[in-house]
Amino acid sequence: MVRSHQAKEQSPKKLALRLEGIDLYTGAMYRSLALLCINSGVNLENAKEVTSRLPDLTVAYVQGRILLNDADVTEAIQDSAIAEGASIIAVIPEVRKELVRRQQAIGKEEIARGKIVVVEGRDIGTTVFPQAVLKIYLTATVEVRAKRRLLQYSHQENAPSYEAILAHIKKRDERDSKREIDPLAKDPEKLGYFVLDNSDMSERETIDAIIVELKRRKLLND
Ligand code: C5P
Repeated sequence: MVRSHQAKEQSPKKLALRLEGIDLYTGAMYRSLALLCINSGVNLENAKEVTSRLPDLTVAYVQGRILLNDADVTEAIQDSAIAEGASIIAVIPEVRKELVRRQQAIGKEEIARGKIVVVEGRDIGTTVFPQAVLKIYLTATVEVRAKRRLLQYSHQENAPSYEAILAHIKKRDERDSKREIDPLAKDPEKLGYFVLDNSDMSERETIDAIIVELKRRKLLND
C-alpha cells in the first residue's frame, strides 16, 4: 500500500486487523534512523555519516509499538521534525537499499508463516513488493491531509499551525517525488495500482472500499 498523499493515520493498521494480518509500517524505519542521527548529532545531509549509523539501527514492531534499539519511540517519531528528517535521509541510496532489504525480509518471513501482510510506504508497489497481489495508492488532497495532521496534534502543547503543517507536507511531497531513487509513482494507475482518493471518506469507508476491491479481485471471500 502506498499511503503517499495522506496524513498519518491508522487505516493500514486497522485494515491489517480486519484481514487478521500484519501491518508493516516502513516509514518507521526511515523516521527511526532520522531520530537516531539527530540524537547522536549526525548531520542528516551527510550521506556517509548517516549510512555509517545503519549497523546501529534496530527497528522492531512489537504489539503495535515501534522500538528503536529497544526504546519505545512510537510517539517520538511522529514529530514533524522527524518526518522532515526522514525525508532527507530517504534520498540516500545506501539507506534505501538497506531498509528495503530489511522490509523485504520481514514481509517474506510473515508471508512464509501464512500471514497477510499490509505494507505501508511510498515505494512498496514499485520496489519493495512489486509483485504484491493488491497495490493501493491511497491519496488525499494536501488540505485534507493537513487538517488530519492538525487533529492529531490537537492534544499537544506547541502544536504547529495549519499553515505550517500544510507547507511542511507540500515540501516533503516535493522531495519524495523528485528524488532520484524510488520517487513517488507519478502515474500509479499505469503501474497497476488501485488508486483511492479518500479526501471525502472516513477511515471506515476507506477500509470498506479496500475490502470491496479485494473481494472484487477474488482475493477475499464474500
Ligand atoms: O510514511 P511516513 O510519513 O512515515 O514517511 C516519512 C518519510 O520517510 C517520507 O516522507 C519518505 O521520505 C520516507 N519514506 C520513504 N519510503 C518509505 C517510507 C517512508 O522514502 N517506504
